[in-house]
Amino acid sequence: MTILVTGGAGFIGSNFVLDWLAQSDETVVNLDVLSYAGNLENLASLQGDARHVFVQGDICDRALVDRLLAEHQPRALVHFAAESHVDRSISGPGAFMRTNIEGTYTLLEASRQYWSGLNEEAKAAFRFHHVSTDEVYGSLGPQDPAFTETKTYEPNSPYSASKAASDHLVRAWHHTYGLPVLTTNCSNNYGPYHFPEKLIPLMIVNALAGKPLPVYGDGQQIRDWLYVTDHASAIRAVIAGGRVGETYNIGGWNEMANIDIVKTVCALLDELRPDPAGPYSRLITYVKDRPGHDRRYAIDARKVERELGWRPAETFASGIRKTVQWYLDHPDWVARVQSGAYRDWVSQQYGA
Ligand code: NAD
Ligand code: DAU
Repeated sequence: MTILVTGGAGFIGSNFVLDWLAQSDETVVNLDVLSYAGNLENLASLQGDARHVFVQGDICDRALVDRLLAEHQPRALVHFAAESHVDRSISGPGAFMRTNIEGTYTLLEASRQYWSGLNEEAKAAFRFHHVSTDEVYGSLGPQDPAFTETKTYEPNSPYSASKAASDHLVRAWHHTYGLPVLTTNCSNNYGPYHFPEKLIPLMIVNALAGKPLPVYGDGQQIRDWLYVTDHASAIRAVIAGGRVGETYNIGGWNEMANIDIVKTVCALLDELRPDPAGPYSRLITYVKDRPGHDRRYAIDARKVERELGWRPAETFASGIRKTVQWYLDHPDWVARVQSGAYRDWVSQQYGA
């Protein structure tokens, strides 16, 4: 048995691949273009492991996707590949439209063709799992109920609009063609291998370097944080038992204001790697807000719990401690990401 994963060298995708192969012997074919966010070094522990087949390529390349489906005959496609950083979508939305919309369309069409040619048993078993985000639902007021799966879509950034478009495509391919799809809309992830341009890893690496900790606006924006391996376990649960055509919201039941996240990171660093110059919170610097910044996200994850029995295993206290410790234990990974040397990893490790 085989699954085809897209974007498996990114933050969540690489954690998912590692988690999947720790739980099962099912081969993972990993299609990733290795954009700035893709880092094969995350998967270094799988080197020489025949269960992991890495293919560098673009999800918009229909001929390549067709070939991989025909060659490997996967029983599921798990689609992580995306442009994922809201700030980058504001400064340059084009890549988001291409990868997130056109790329998802390409995968859907290739999957539809492949799936149509399967025998009845394989056809019934096949799943197209689309990994999406809570940002498609828009921004909540302080008293609003958390997002359920029936919340109207109100995306506010080029990133969330492109993800919303991809969710609609996935829905339509099920409704019109019967493609057996599943969609998960997840809240903010954190954990190992998180690219240090996102809030939590940026705060850790800047603090350790004695650099300012940039907090947008008043720092009171709220996100719902989930440890990344809990996201991986939720996706596994949905692939195994989710009802075809349904969406499932995934979250950590853990709403926190950004400034409290930053202070928590500072306090952990004060404990684990004290700085003789004083508490890390001295580095907190309020900066210009993100344009169109969503104020609050919160996930109501009762459906996935009710139907599939999934709940996060980590609390925020346990997950953030593991995360800070991971960054302290992996200065070389951080240094290679910051210098750009991680991009040489493929040629260094695998030759031409
Ligand atoms: P990431 O930016 O760390 O990784 C994205 C991966 O996709 C990279 O490895 C990159 O090389 C690859 N990629 C980009 N364009 C590609 C293309 N055209 N063809 C093939 N591969 C391509 O992203 P992430 O944070 O790991 O997010 C993964 C998925 O989860 C995304 O779909 C994102 O929308 C979704 N998501 C992320 C979060 C979060 O908190 N990070 C939360 C909810 C949902
Ligand atoms: O909600 C899920 C989403 O979470 C995913 O769909 C996205 O792919 C993922 O990148 C993440 O988006 P955010 O915009 O919430 O993540 P980011 O880490 O960029 O920012 C988290 C919050 O912290 C947000 O309110 C902006 C703020 N922030 C971020 C940075 C990078 C700061 O205050 N300062 C910063 O320097």
